[in-house]
Formats: sequence, C-alpha cells, structure tokens
Amino acid sequence: MPFLDSFERPISYLRISVTDRCNFRCLYCRPAEGISLRRSHEILRFEEIERVARAAASLGINKVRLTGGEPLVRRGVVDLVETLASIPGIDDLSMTTNGALLAKYAQDLAQAGLKRVNVSLDSLKEERFREITRGGRLNDTLAGIDAARKAGLSPIKVNMVVVRGLNDDEILDFARLSEEGWHVRYIELMPLGPAVEWRGVSVGEIREEIERHLGSLEPAKVDVGGGPARYYRLPGAQGTIGFIGPISECFCEGCNRLRLTADGRLRPCLLSDEEIDIKTPLRQGATLADLREILSQGAHMKPPRHRLAERVWPQKRTMSEIGG
Ligand code: 5AD
Ligand code: SF4
Repeated sequence: MPFLDSFERPISYLRISVTDRCNFRCLYCRPAEGISLRRSHEILRFEEIERVARAAASLGINKVRLTGGEPLVRRGVVDLVETLASIPGIDDLSMTTNGALLAKYAQDLAQAGLKRVNVSLDSLKEERFREITRGGRLNDTLAGIDAARKAGLSPIKVNMVVVRGLNDDEILDFARLSEEGWHVRYIELMPLGPAVEWRGVSVGEIREEIERHLGSLEPAKVDVGGGPARYYRLPGAQGTIGFIGPISECFCEGCNRLRLTADGRLRPCLLSDEEIDIKTPLRQGATLADLREILSQGAHMKPPRHRLAERVWPQKRTMSEIGG
C-alpha cells in the first residue's frame, strides 16, 4: 500500500533539514541581521533524525534529501549520511548544498552512501556571487561542483533562483552550461522572508529568452528526482535545462513530500506555516508505531495546494531555515 495523503497523492519523499545555520547569507533568503538560531539542544540529534527516517522508510518513503541552512556546516553530517544510507527502503539519498564546503566533503559523502547533490548557484560572476551570498566565494562553489563530479555524486543539478535586477542577465550564461553537460534548473522566486523585497522572473519568460537566443528546447527525460521540475534540452546539448515554477505553474497536484525541520517539526507544506511537533514525542520515547502515526498525521495535514495567488504565504520561517 503506498503512503497516501488525503488527496491520494503518494508521499514518497522526506526532506530533512539538519541545521538552521548557513555559511552564506543570500540576499533573498536570509535576513541581513541574521535569524534567531536554535540552541544546540533544540536541534534534533542524529539518532532522533534516524528514528524518523526509519519510520518514514517503513511507510514507503524511499527518497530522502538533506538540506539546511547549509547541511555541510553541521558537524558529523557524513556520519548521518552513512546511517541514513544504511536504512532499508531508502534508495535515493541526496543533498542540497551551496557547495562552499563540497570540495572538502564530496569524496567522504559519496563513500558514506550519498547518491547525488543539488548545488545552489545564482551567479557565475565572482563579484556578484559575493554580493548575493554576502561574502561567499564563487571559486569555492565551483571547486565543490568539480569535486562532486569526481566523486561520482551524479547527476549534479545546479539551481539558479532568478531575481529581477540581480542575476536575470545571466540566464543565457547558465543555459549555455547545459551544453557543457551541466544540468541547470531555473527556480521562480517565492515570496518568503526577505524574498518579499525582490521580484522573481517567471519560468515562461526565462524559457522565452533561452529559446530566442539559443534555439528551441526539446523535452528531455531525467531519470532521477520525480520532483516539480520540467526538463528540456538545447539542440545537441548533453546537459538539461529544468524549470521550477511554483508560482506560474503550480505543481502541487503532484506533491510527494514531507519536511522535517532541524528543530524537530514536521512540516506538511513548504508554503504553509502549519507544523506538527515530532521532537517532544521523540524525546518522550515514541515507538516506531507512534512515529508512523505522526508522519501519517503530517501527510493528512497537507493542503491541496499553496495559496500564493491569494497572497497567503508563510510568515514564521524563512527559506534558509526550511531548506527549500
Ligand atoms: N524562492 C525560491 N527559492 C529560494 N531559495 C531560497 N529562498 C528562495 C525563494 N524565496 C532556494 C535557494 C536554494 C534552495 C534551498 O532554495 O537558492 O537553492
Ligand atoms: Fe543562501 Fe542557501 Fe544559505 Fe539560503 S540557505 S542563505 S540560499 S546558501
């Protein structure tokens, strides 16, 4: 029996945020003044994350992604990868990272059982990269991508959030990278936290610009993920171009995921503030059956779709805490 929510969507994917900390402070993601970080006892211990993951796997969840903040700033995250990779039923274990520490960890992560990584990269210009991330170094992230490739963490998907007046003049530069074998995905900016001060670019506009300059896109099949992106290919390109348009092409109908926050809450929808406390039960000795019950409740709390069009969006957490 697949694990279904109340709209009969199969839930097969758990995104686990392992820390609310990040070594970057991207303009649209993390407020300049920082966020109030949780103290370490408020953050789930690895053993607690493992129990949730086992319960999830026993319900049929077979895909797990580690996110943050930045997952690689959490000490010992390679050990967590090893533990999660050994859980029967979890066959696609991945990570979303800003890549800054990937050169250091890629080999160990691959050895520990991580299958692949998505790397967030919003500019290919050194100076601008530093400005967007408030201090990050482009070369670290590029070296990280390189190391991930050498370690076999593939396919590597590079995610660019397109922000008007900030990096929208780099759409074509990113598209050209698909001709060098990169898998590039364009993401529409969602209005969360500091992002409400910025304007995104719709995937329709992005696509049009690419087709106008580089040729028509042909649909491509990408065999991992099953997420919200739609994939295409430039004529003759080895890599693909993906579009993730939460606003202009709502994909909630196919939503397959639950999220676990670093401070131990189950979040049924990225774009809704509603959460369930799973940390307290974990610390009170919840059994596997109890955890399965909480995960089922979480699935049943999933709304049919987000309400961005009605100008309803989450207020309580920024993206840098939820991890996308
Ligand atoms: N809209 C869309 N994507 C966002 N991210 C952060 N904030 C937003 C937003 N408001 C992206 C990051 C990263 C991923 C974790 O989420 O750039 O790629
Ligand atoms: Fe930037 Fe990601 Fe960190 Fe947000 S979580 S500040 S997008 S690197």
